[in-house]
Amino acid sequence: MKETVVSGIRPTGKLHLGNYFGAFKNFLKLQEQFECYFFIADYHSLTTHPNPADLKGSVKRVLAEYIALGLDPEKCTVYLQSDVPETAELYLFLNMNAYMGELERVTSFKEKARTQPNNINAGLLTYPVLMAADILLHRGIKVPVGKDQEQHLEMTRTFANRFNRLYNIDYFPEPQAFTFDTQLVKVPGLTGGGKMSKSAGESDSIYLDEPAASLNKKIMRAVSDSGPAEAGAPKSQAVQNLFDLMGLVCNQNTISFFDTEHKNGSIRYGDLKKQLAADMETFVAPLRDNIEAMLANDKKLTEIAQFGAEKARKNAQKTLSEVREIIGFSKFYL
Ligand code: TYM
Repeated sequence: MKETVVSGIRPTGKLHLGNYFGAFKNFLKLQEQFECYFFIADYHSLTTHPNPADLKGSVKRVLAEYIALGLDPEKCTVYLQSDVPETAELYLFLNMNAYMGELERVTSFKEKARTQPNNINAGLLTYPVLMAADILLHRGIKVPVGKDQEQHLEMTRTFANRFNRLYNIDYFPEPQAFTFDTQLVKVPGLTGGGKMSKSAGESDSIYLDEPAASLNKKIMRAVSDSGPAEAGAPKSQAVQNLFDLMGLVCNQNTISFFDTEHKNGSIRYGDLKKQLAADMETFVAPLRDNIEAMLANDKKLTEIAQFGAEKARKNAQKTLSEVREIIGFSKFYL
């Protein structure tokens, strides 16, 4: 039997390079080889209380992007998380077995609690449990994600193992974060900080349908430094970020050229950025066109969502009926 792959992306706006190179690129290859479930994590996005119209628009956008970027609904199951309410039921079961202390220690929770002190809701605390429910619902083994999700995967394994121990059954497998790269990917943003992320502001991210003019502007304005202090000086974080971005879209000769220039202390960041912007535009241009075309095709998107919801629910219902049986519910009224 083929191994099962599960992953999702929150509909919090447009997809960016981080989503693509951290996760999506792997989805494309995995759909050719495995039993794949790729969903839009709309339940997860409720932690930030989006208004209904925005949520609807964002879900449609991510679905359109999934298809425009190459997911094939005949090869993999593409669905909306909220179309599969079995997710919520499994989340409830797993919550009984997830502890306050361990949830409070999760880095993403601590970070959110710090940045949004007025909205530390229970959904934020139990976010890793919902994510475990997504994965275990399909008994996923491979979970293609970026580096930032590593800890959540560890929690999924903890919850799966705990369930198995509690009921003394080897039911849930141990899912692992997956990438075809040598290690989980972290795509840096343009503002000199850590990973590319929408919360770091508009100028940090390059979207997969970024218009040519703003793409160029964002890269030309990306944070660098005042140049290597001397020949052979190490790269600053901001400059390393630019090299990392080059690694995604530029060819090896280009990267080696600028690397040598940096080592020699003669690098001109303006030239590097110009080249990066040109290569990035070559990468983004066809994606931009595909996304635009797909966004205009409501009928096709609706059909895809319905088709995917049916396939995903069928599998989810099987898991849930087994889980209920394990827990003891189905025997209650026999
Ligand atoms: P989300 O929506 O924040 O991001 C979606 C995917 O994109 C990856 N990613 C990145 N990878 C590398 N560099 C970056 N700068 C970068 N930014 C984002 C993320 O690692 C992720 O793979 N909790 C998840 C969604 C989710 C999920 C799941 C994933 C819900 N349930 C079950 C896998 C399995 C999230 O918020 O991802």
